[in-house]
Amino acid sequence: MMSAPPFPAPGTTPIVCVSAASKSFHTPDGRLVEALKAVSLDIPAGRFTTLLGPSGCGKTTLLRLIGGFEEPTGGGIFIDGKLMEGIPAHHRPTNTVFQHYGLFPHLTVAGNVAYGLEIAKVPKAEIRQRVAEALEMVRLPGMETRKITQLSGGQQQRVALARALVLRPKILLLDEPMAALDRKLRKEMQTELKRLQHELGIAFLCVTHDQEEALSMSDLVVVMNRGQIEQQGTPRQIYDQPETEFVAGFVGEISLFRGRIVGDSLQTEAGTTLLIDALASPPDQPVTACLRPEKLALAKPDSTTPLLHGTVRDATYLGTSTRLEVSLGNSEGGMSDTVIATLHGDSPAIGQPITLTYSPADVRLLRHQG
Ligand SMILES: Nc1ncnc2c1ncn2[C@@H]1O[C@H](COP(=O)(O)OP(=O)(O)OP(=O)(O)O)[C@@H](O)[C@H]1O
Ligand SMILES: [Mg+2]
Repeated sequence: MMSAPPFPAPGTTPIVCVSAASKSFHTPDGRLVEALKAVSLDIPAGRFTTLLGPSGCGKTTLLRLIGGFEEPTGGGIFIDGKLMEGIPAHHRPTNTVFQHYGLFPHLTVAGNVAYGLEIAKVPKAEIRQRVAEALEMVRLPGMETRKITQLSGGQQQRVALARALVLRPKILLLDEPMAALDRKLRKEMQTELKRLQHELGIAFLCVTHDQEEALSMSDLVVVMNRGQIEQQGTPRQIYDQPETEFVAGFVGEISLFRGRIVGDSLQTEAGTTLLIDALASPPDQPVTACLRPEKLALAKPDSTTPLLHGTVRDATYLGTSTRLEVSLGNSEGGMSDTVIATLHGDSPAIGQPITLTYSPADVRLLRHQG
């Protein structure tokens, strides 16, 4: 199986190095929660990195350790090569946009954006100029005197961004920045965030549990699960080359096949034979393989690629494609595997027989997890 080139390219200096960082919490009822378990991660300078994972996997905790709102219980955080131990949030070259923005409702837009600069005793004329620049950056020019309560959700989000960016951090931390916005506004802000990151050239580290958002915005996606990193890579690597069942299932839809390698194919217990790339075959042992729905196609009479015979169990019309759930093999009782396929054009109706085809190169073997 061909692997995409590593990212970031070897030799690139990371802006943040998380070195075996752990964080445990004592809950009020005396339990110990291991929110992060010896996580190591390099965050590239000047790129858009996303922490992606389900609720409770430790994304916010990792962000808070980097931002200096929390100290690790083990390991360390280095920013720009410097150990951050004991350095409070406001002395770190980071700035954070929180989920609910944390804007001051009694201040104007300018008052909110200027806040950090005033604390830092920046001269008044410079503050005025930098606030105007920051508002320009987030496309809210001339909004200085507006009250926060007179702004829409999307505008408040932009003010929160301006307030963080006006301090010129080396890294901007964003915790679910789009969570409070509706779907259409989310899409707009995704494009906007990407543009901002690109224009400013500083590192953005963004937390989300939305896989589509992670894939569309990021240069690097870090998939987390239960306080650990499952996999990191470019969006394409994460989508096309998932290494674990967790990543395969969390990022987009996928069909899984469990079985044993026999020769150049995987044989499942239910009797499905799935041809795989011979080079990728490990010796006889239980394996799990996966196949993305869009990698399957309706077989033509002259198809030379391997075939899967089955029966359509469910069909959902999605506009540009149809999503099919197909029971493989003999549908009359007994075990059968299910494969999901998204097809373009006509497809058989529910209950009809179907023959699908795929390329063995698209079948991916997953790392076995104990
Ligand atoms: N202050 C705390 N005290 C006790 N437990 C905590 C504390 N902060 C976080 N945890 C626990 O640590 C784990 C990770 O929490 P964290 O907030 O980092 O998750 P998350 O990935 O950001 O989730 P979400 O997507 O829901 O925001 C959870 O089990 C959470 O309950
Ligand atoms: Mg969180």
